[in-house]
Amino acid sequence: MVSSLRGMNDLFGSDAEKYSYFLDVASSVAKRYGYEFIRTPLLEETGLFLRSVGESSDIVGKEMYRFSDKGGNDVCLRPEGTAGVVRSFIEQKLDRKGGIHRFCYSGTMYRYERPQKGRLREFSQFGCESFGEESVYEDASVILLVAQIFSTLGIAYTLKLNSLGCKECMPSYKDLLVEFVKSHTEAICDDCKRRVDTNPIRVLDCKNESCQAIYKDAPKLLDHLCSGCKNDFAKLKDLLNQSDLGFEIDSHLVRGLDYYTKSAFEFVSSGIGSQNAIAGGGRYDTLVEYLGGKSTPAIGFAIGIERILDLIVPQETKGKLFYIGSLDEDSLDASFAAALQKRASVQTFFEPKPRSLKNHLKTADKIGASHCCVIGSNELADDSIWVKDLLSKEEQTIKIKDFNGLF
Ligand code: HAM
Repeated sequence: MVSSLRGMNDLFGSDAEKYSYFLDVASSVAKRYGYEFIRTPLLEETGLFLRSVGESSDIVGKEMYRFSDKGGNDVCLRPEGTAGVVRSFIEQKLDRKGGIHRFCYSGTMYRYERPQKGRLREFSQFGCESFGEESVYEDASVILLVAQIFSTLGIAYTLKLNSLGCKECMPSYKDLLVEFVKSHTEAICDDCKRRVDTNPIRVLDCKNESCQAIYKDAPKLLDHLCSGCKNDFAKLKDLLNQSDLGFEIDSHLVRGLDYYTKSAFEFVSSGIGSQNAIAGGGRYDTLVEYLGGKSTPAIGFAIGIERILDLIVPQETKGKLFYIGSLDEDSLDASFAAALQKRASVQTFFEPKPRSLKNHLKTADKIGASHCCVIGSNELADDSIWVKDLLSKEEQTIKIKDFNGLF
């Protein structure tokens, strides 16, 4: 037997139902916030991710599904969605057009990580990317959008917030941090020793407890923001407070992708194990220009769909389900036509084998139908159908032409 690859799962049954329920909720909330749907390819030139997610990140350094295609092109399966949307935004020349452009997407991402609960090699994200709005009101809107998706789904979370500064304040902070970390070189882990030369701020979210004990005394970027970043961060906190959205400031929240500037945030959930980040995002004001476009402010987020499936309790959406069958061969075509008609408006199950009424009722009950409808020789003779409401137990025989209008 051939099995699926490690860290790559099929989605079916109640999880598949929750997945599509989640997408319905997330897309309708995003639409209300002005986002339009975009789809970008799963496969992109590797260079796109080297430049955006960053060569020093774990995602690019250790986790890419990277290969040469038959034409010798260096390509990889996308490890995340933002880079592709930015590429498309530039390729469509929307950066030159100006104005605000907001996109939402969903699809699979690929990271060659060590699989564990909540950590897959193929996983799905729902994401939103907003281009062209530098106001901090947009940061608040994006965060409130995520919060609204989770509250619609009944998912509890903690919001963690930080500011990563901008090209004015980040470089001088980095120098301070490097100086601090280098004064503790003997005590830090090998990963941090490497990070301090490649991407120093990533040391701050090292999972090693002894490193964390050292970094709690490290200089904090929030104490070294320039006045612009400081004012925006204060305004963002104000706006979230005014909207009654609770948050925690986490000065060690640096995110695993290199493109962030200013606001960075994560939604975490308790009770799903150690992989508890259910959404992450932030501002990336320099990425469009860095990838060859015209400088454009941008902000976005992505939700990890598999991580929240266990937290979703689908709303009782049990609507009507019509079961339609026939008592004999001769009535099959008529019952098939009736099912086709009904499917235009209601979920309908058609049974292609003629059966006794008792057996039809049994199956209708088993699949949770709301109505069991049957055609036999009597009904066929006068163009009618027998219908039983399985809740009220009411039975009636009605003309086929009136059947569609029923309920
Ligand atoms: P990220 O934090 O790398 O950000 O991923 C977003 C979410 O995807 C995580 O919070 C988590 O729920 C889920 N996720 C990540 N890796 C895995 C995995 N191996 N298995 C299961 N779920 C996973 C991004 O990807 C950014 N592109 C978000 C963004 C959009 N920032 C700005 N715009």
